[in-house]
Amino acid sequence: MFSQLQHPPADPILGLSIKFKADSNPNKIDLGPGIYKDDAGNTPVLACVKAAESYRVENEMSKAYLGSTGSVLFNEKIASLILGDHPAIHENRVRTVSTPGGTGALRIAGELINKTKPGATIWVSNPTWANHQGVFKAAGLNVKTYPYYDYENKCLDFEGMMAALKQIPAEDAVLIHACCHNPSGMDLNEEQWREVATLSKEVGYTAVIDIAYQGFGKGLDVDAFGVRLMAQTLDQMIICSSCSKNFGLYRDRIGACSIIGKNAVSADIIGAVMVTVVRVNYSMPPAHGAAIVETILSSDELTAQWHIELKEMRDRIGDMRQLFVDKLVENGVSRDFSFITQQNGMFSFLGIEPAQIERLQDEFGIYVVGSSRISLAAIATNNVDYLTKSIAKVL
Ligand code: LMR
Repeated sequence: MFSQLQHPPADPILGLSIKFKADSNPNKIDLGPGIYKDDAGNTPVLACVKAAESYRVENEMSKAYLGSTGSVLFNEKIASLILGDHPAIHENRVRTVSTPGGTGALRIAGELINKTKPGATIWVSNPTWANHQGVFKAAGLNVKTYPYYDYENKCLDFEGMMAALKQIPAEDAVLIHACCHNPSGMDLNEEQWREVATLSKEVGYTAVIDIAYQGFGKGLDVDAFGVRLMAQTLDQMIICSSCSKNFGLYRDRIGACSIIGKNAVSADIIGAVMVTVVRVNYSMPPAHGAAIVETILSSDELTAQWHIELKEMRDRIGDMRQLFVDKLVENGVSRDFSFITQQNGMFSFLGIEPAQIERLQDEFGIYVVGSSRISLAAIATNNVDYLTKSIAKVL
């Protein structure tokens, strides 16, 4: 059966980490995957997570199935975290399923759309997360792109984006990053969100919001401004979220797919169809990560601790953005990289050439995604000099 298979190309992000592990350069730096690292280069388990895990060990009474929706408490807590005290919640128009990570949420969203309208088109930003296209195509959707990042001027191509969104047929879906745009770090401001929300309502396409980095930009509420506004403006939408980054639960694989319906009856129907999509995919989501998150969000003390730890991560990345740009200047780089301090979340594009990316990897053991995306979260006070001197050399 498998004799015709060819080896697939390496994953643009995960493939890089495999190469990185095999590299014997003692100074090597992995700027590839979006994983938070502290200044010592570790990705520690958050203290609030450890505390919640201890609590669960003592108090969990059963490992019986939870059903395809996953934990009801987690689903409620995560919808409130994203939407805040939102009318859609009070009007009973939100239905959520726990999913295996944010990727699981995207796949469920894709399959829900495909089940509603087989082969429907979903529009994603150009550029977008390297896995978005693959996930949606695997779900049966046709994927197209709308302009988003202006590579030349290192800013948002808002005009291009709005012009493209205007033309999108009402029966299509449009994926929009809520915050900390992956890979560009370039977010919509509040005024731009207002324009996008108004236009989305006028045009009538189905908005799918991907919120994988809530709390990594400017704060939990500010980062959710766009998704909350969209939920207020539109009758229906889909939200895909992840707890990988903000709770540091990467390998526990916990995220959520929420739908908002026009009213409680339509939410019931869409939610029920979403559950059938889950059932034929993985039947039921893993429960451990959900249990940790719901334990934290149910405790004032653990929530306060989580806010502190999340802020520490956010602030460190912000500090590294500034330090990186300062050190580039200090090490003789004349090209202006100050745009990096204006961007949010883990990522920015360096905007350097493929040959320079290759040299960074081959000569200096510095691993950058082929698009020139770097994870600022991997920069530390003890590697920033080596990194910026190396960049100065390849430039
Ligand atoms: C990333 O963009 O680096 C992360 O979301 C990890 C992944 O799965 O690609």
